[in-house]
Amino acid sequence: MTTQTALQDFMTVVRSRRSVRSYENVAISQEELAEILETAALAPSSSNLQPWRFLIAHDTESKKRLEAVVFDFNKQRLSEASVGIVVLGDMKGYENADKIYSQAVEKGYMSEEMKNQFVGNLLGMYGSLPQEKLKDIVLVDGGLVSMQLMLAARAKGYDTLPMGGYDPVKLKEQFNIPEQYVPIMILALGKAAQEGRPSTRLPLEDITFWNKMN
Ligand SMILES: Cc1cc2nc3c(=O)[nH]c(=O)nc-3n(C[C@H](O)[C@H](O)[C@H](O)COP(=O)(O)O)c2cc1C
Repeated sequence: MTTQTALQDFMTVVRSRRSVRSYENVAISQEELAEILETAALAPSSSNLQPWRFLIAHDTESKKRLEAVVFDFNKQRLSEASVGIVVLGDMKGYENADKIYSQAVEKGYMSEEMKNQFVGNLLGMYGSLPQEKLKDIVLVDGGLVSMQLMLAARAKGYDTLPMGGYDPVKLKEQFNIPEQYVPIMILALGKAAQEGRPSTRLPLEDITFWNKMN
């Protein structure tokens, strides 16, 4: 294990995760972040196209630039955190279909012939989708990877804050983010200085419809 903190069991991780808004001043290495990101990237995605991209504000200068695009109520939280991660959706991510499925061929998971047919179908389908639909897809996939990132961080003894409170236009300007990338959320990540506030959830009966919707 590469971390000082023992990995926790899954239910403990899920049940103890909170949005943390106060962090200790500690540095997190690129290696440790890479491990968290690799775990996050095991998330499922539409046709396994993995359209998520991570812009990581790791050094002081880029963190300051990221702080400039979040709303005032988030500034202190992000500034205290060790790192800010912008989760982006790549609207052209489907163009990696051949690379992704060639990996599967190399591993022996599918034949070259099957790959070629599959990739041809995918390129045709995703390439003809309206932008709105493509955006829906990358937003869903981006949500899944973000959640997995938060849980992976928690399992390694770190905490996170998902942030929707930022200006996406300023974000794109600040980091010269090309048009094809859709901002999904910003995650602050670090060592908690203070536990997250407890929060409640709606009772199951309010959120479930068994067999039919009334
Ligand atoms: C997409 C998304 C955007 C959020 N944006 C913010 C934010 O801008 N600032 C903030 O302090 N919390 C933000 N939150 C955190 C929520 O307030 C928090 O998840 C919710 O209150 C439940 O608390 P918990 O995460 O501790 O379980 C956001 C959460 C999500 C999922």
